[in-house]
Amino acid sequence: MNTVLLSHYEVAPLRQAYARGRRTATVSADLGRTSLTVTLDPEGVHFADGVLLTWEQADRILAHPNAVFAWTPEGWQRVRAFSPLTGRTVALYPTGPGRAPTLLIAGIPMHRVRGTDPWRDTQAKVRALRPRGRVLDTCFGLGYSAWAAARTADSVLSVELDPAVLAVARRNPWSVAALNHPKVNVVQADVARLLAGMPRHAFSAILHDPPQFALAGELYGADFYEHLWRVLKPGGRLFHYVGNPGTKMGRNVTRGVMERLRGVGFARVKPVPRAGGVLAVKPRGAHPHRTGGAARRDGRARRTRRR
Ligand SMILES: C[S@@+](CC[C@H](N)C(=O)[O-])C[C@H]1O[C@@H](n2cnc3c(N)ncnc32)[C@H](O)[C@@H]1O
Repeated sequence: MNTVLLSHYEVAPLRQAYARGRRTATVSADLGRTSLTVTLDPEGVHFADGVLLTWEQADRILAHPNAVFAWTPEGWQRVRAFSPLTGRTVALYPTGPGRAPTLLIAGIPMHRVRGTDPWRDTQAKVRALRPRGRVLDTCFGLGYSAWAAARTADSVLSVELDPAVLAVARRNPWSVAALNHPKVNVVQADVARLLAGMPRHAFSAILHDPPQFALAGELYGADFYEHLWRVLKPGGRLFHYVGNPGTKMGRNVTRGVMERLRGVGFARVKPVPRAGGVLAVKPRGAHPHRTGGAARRDGRARRTRRR
């Protein structure tokens, strides 16, 4: 059988079932994708192929509600990895029974989980973009946005900086759909560097879903937005996730994002609160040789004069 993955959401009902005298139970061993039958005895929970969760190990999982555990020949281990590239720990974080997990980077969730779940959060972002043609997904993460974009796009190029994130994604049953998708090409790279070497007008739509500002401020900067502007076709759409629209800090970041997007040449820049981000369009009449930088410099000059 495939690796068994468990969080407190699956283990708590197993404990209760055993306490009520049940000797079999149905459980998901892949974070809600499928379910199977297990046997319960005084030793613990028996899965297929001799995989055993002792009650002692079950208690350890219950004591770590923020973690997903995987069975390995060395025992039950958290699904997490230390990234030598960023110096941060990345981990799967369970969000509810039957729900897709999110990714924690340095303890910060990479999807919205309050009042929604990572899967629905992602659908909202992709619906706002309405991806068509060749699509750039700037930040692969767990690949939910890449997969969702591939449903309507001709192809998706999805970029992920951190090999540790990709290692965690490979262990997430909800990421398999994107990793194996024939329309999705996943590249491990810094998206800014990758775009610098790409021809202009390479994409019909861009989904920009960066970590929050505190973790990756460079992905919110005008220099990066110039890359996005250059590789987007005239008439192409950009959805930029920003997050936290309900907080003062979120509103400030959103205002800055919108100002800088306009500064590099984007038009029809407007917030999309239900998707937690900003939508923008590259005007059809944009001069092919005009760089976003020229527009940004204009914007800076205007701001300077106003002060
Ligand atoms: C919010 S998550 C993306 C979630 C993803 N869209 C999904 O559906 O699961 C942001 C991701 O961007 C990655 N990242 C950070 N800086 C990056 C960069 N310069 N280039 C590419 N990826 C980057 C992080 O490692 C993280 O996995």
